[in-house]
Amino acid sequence: MNPICQLLNIQYPILQGGMGNVSNAPLTAAISEAGGLGTIGIGTLSPNEIEQLIVSTKEHTDKPFAVNIPLSVTPYVKETAKYMFHYQIPIVVLSAGNPAPYIPKFKEKGITVVCVIASVKHAQKAEQAGADIIVAEGYEAAGINATEESTTMTLIPQVADAVEIPVVAAGGIGDGRGLAAALSLGAAGVQMGTRFIATQEGAFHESYKQKLVEAADTETTIVGRKYGKIRRLLKTAYAEELLNDEATGVDIQIFINKTTEEYHRRGAIEGNFIEGFINSGQIAGLLNDIPTVDELIQRMMKEAKEGFKSAASFI
Ligand SMILES: Cc1cc2nc3c(=O)[nH]c(=O)nc-3n(C[C@H](O)[C@H](O)[C@H](O)COP(=O)(O)O)c2cc1C
Repeated sequence: MNPICQLLNIQYPILQGGMGNVSNAPLTAAISEAGGLGTIGIGTLSPNEIEQLIVSTKEHTDKPFAVNIPLSVTPYVKETAKYMFHYQIPIVVLSAGNPAPYIPKFKEKGITVVCVIASVKHAQKAEQAGADIIVAEGYEAAGINATEESTTMTLIPQVADAVEIPVVAAGGIGDGRGLAAALSLGAAGVQMGTRFIATQEGAFHESYKQKLVEAADTETTIVGRKYGKIRRLLKTAYAEELLNDEATGVDIQIFINKTTEEYHRRGAIEGNFIEGFINSGQIAGLLNDIPTVDELIQRMMKEAKEGFKSAASFI
């Protein structure tokens, strides 16, 4: 039995990464319905919006789904926890901050706690604080990244050796080969963001999906390194503007102001790549279609099994 599937009460060890502000209930529900774990991202949403998103996701599925709370981004951890208790959401995914002070409250209510980290030290701390599952996210990933810049290939085996609890690999996984690779490195499952954007159910602008499908392997870029605020984006006119700002030494506050959720929404939802940005992981170059979530998950499971067989024939 896969420990991730057991702990999360899901069929396949494939998790949706939280995508604050831009993902929606139908995508989360479709992933859970397909046997994976759908995740709501609360990002900078207001308490009312968070409640609506939970209610709407519950209307679309009876299967378990998670709520992602990016701790340093939202001021509404308490309110979100209250809604989670009220609506009996079984899984919380804590990211972007120190989860230790929050873990006991969720555990007391019987909620399974998943912590997203990007280093061995933070994985061990989360385990000591009571986390049930670690998501170890490498530098290939879309969106906000850790300053350590460790890649998934190097991070997963080191984290898997350092903790007793199950590990999920995130960053750079887009097909069944990636799933098989992650399992070979010591993970028990994968979390994906970029691949789930280019699906039929993803409520993102069609030109965002299309751009991911057309992207070459070299088409993502890192912005914000100079400010210690690393974010992986698809190369667009707006990403170029951010890079130029950085090169000419604009103030960190200007960078922060130009990378708020408003600019994210303009890119991801409105398809405006001149006045807004779009997150993308390095795996974008691998994507060449826009399947349904169910097709994607079934295909990945089949590819992973085939991948193991063909890899075994090489040794
Ligand atoms: C559009 C978008 C928004 C994201 N927002 C969040 C977020 O709010 N919280 C979070 O923990 N991770 C966020 N991420 C990261 C994903 O949850 C996931 O870990 C990451 O995308 C995995 O790497 P991949 O893109 O290579 O699959 C976001 C990713 C994308 C693509």
